[in-house]
Amino acid sequence: MNLAIDCQGLVKRFGTYTAVQGVTFQLPPGAIMGFVGPNGAGKTTIIRMLCGVLVPTEGQATVLGYDVLTQSEEIKQRIGYMSQKFSLYDDLTVSENLNFYAGVYGLRGKIARAEKLRVIERIGLGERTPQLVSSLSGGWKQRVALACALLHNPQLLILDEPTAGVDPVSRRVFWDLIHQLSKEGMTVLVSTHYMDEASTCDYLGFVFYGRLIAVGSPEDMKKREGKENLDDLFIYYVEHEASDDPRNRMIKKGGRG
Ligand SMILES: Nc1ncnc2c1ncn2[C@@H]1O[C@H](COP(=O)(O)OP(=O)(O)OP(=O)(O)O)[C@@H](O)[C@H]1O
Ligand SMILES: [Mg+2]
Repeated sequence: MNLAIDCQGLVKRFGTYTAVQGVTFQLPPGAIMGFVGPNGAGKTTIIRMLCGVLVPTEGQATVLGYDVLTQSEEIKQRIGYMSQKFSLYDDLTVSENLNFYAGVYGLRGKIARAEKLRVIERIGLGERTPQLVSSLSGGWKQRVALACALLHNPQLLILDEPTAGVDPVSRRVFWDLIHQLSKEGMTVLVSTHYMDEASTCDYLGFVFYGRLIAVGSPEDMKKREGKENLDDLFIYYVEHEASDDPRNRMIKKGGRG
C-alpha cells in the first residue's frame, strides 16, 4: 500500500532547543489522523515539516510518495494546508479570497472558475461569496479557509487547529465536512485540543515534549490503558511521561504543591 505519510525519526532543532525529537508514524490513504498534545508540544512543527515548509534537522519523510527534503514543491501542489493562523484577507470578499488563492495555486481562467464554483458548492458558501471576510463569524471564516485549501483538489488535507475558538455548532459543521471529504477518499491530518473531535478520528497521535508518545485508534488506545474517555487517557499519558522526563520534574513538583 502507498502510504499518504511515512515519516521516520523526524527531528527539528531551533538552535540548541529540540522542538521535535524522533517522530515516526505512518498514515494510510483515506484515513483521518488527529494530533493532540499540550501547547508547545511540537504539533505545528511536525506539521510544517510534513508540508515541506520547514526542513527537518534529522530523519526522513515522504508525503504522498514525495520526499520532504528534495520534493517539497511537489508536496505543496498536492496538499491543502490550513495553518494555525490561517491567512484570509479581511478586506476582501469571500469570492475575492477564493480568486486570490486560485491564483496562488496556479489555477487560471475556466479551470479557476470551475474549481471556485465546486468549492463554494462543496462547503456551502453560496450566499456568503459577496460578503467581506471581516464581516463573517469565526465559524464561517474557518469554512472559507477550508474552501481555499481545497481549490486545487488536494489528495491530503493538513489542518492545524482549524476549529480553535469556534462555537460547538460551527465545529460540528466543520467536522461533518471533514468526514465527508474523508469518505470521498481524502486523507486528513489534523491537530486539535478538543477531545470530542479527536474521538472521531481513525487514528490519534499524542504529542508530548516533541515526541509522539502513543499512536492508535481512539478505541484501541483507551482499551490499552484501561481508560473510559480520551480526557482521562491524555492526562494519564502526560503524567506518566512527565514522571519519566527529568525536564518535567518542576511540573511534577508544582503539581504536588
Ligand atoms: N521558529 C521557531 N524558533 C524557535 N522555537 C520555535 C520555533 N517554532 C516553534 N518553536 C518552539 O518549538 C516548540 C514547539 O512549538 P509548536 O508550535 O510546534 O507547538 P504546538 O504543539 O503546535 O503548540 P500549540 O498547541 O500551542 O499550537 C515550542 O516550544 C515553540 O516555542
Ligand atoms: Mg500549534
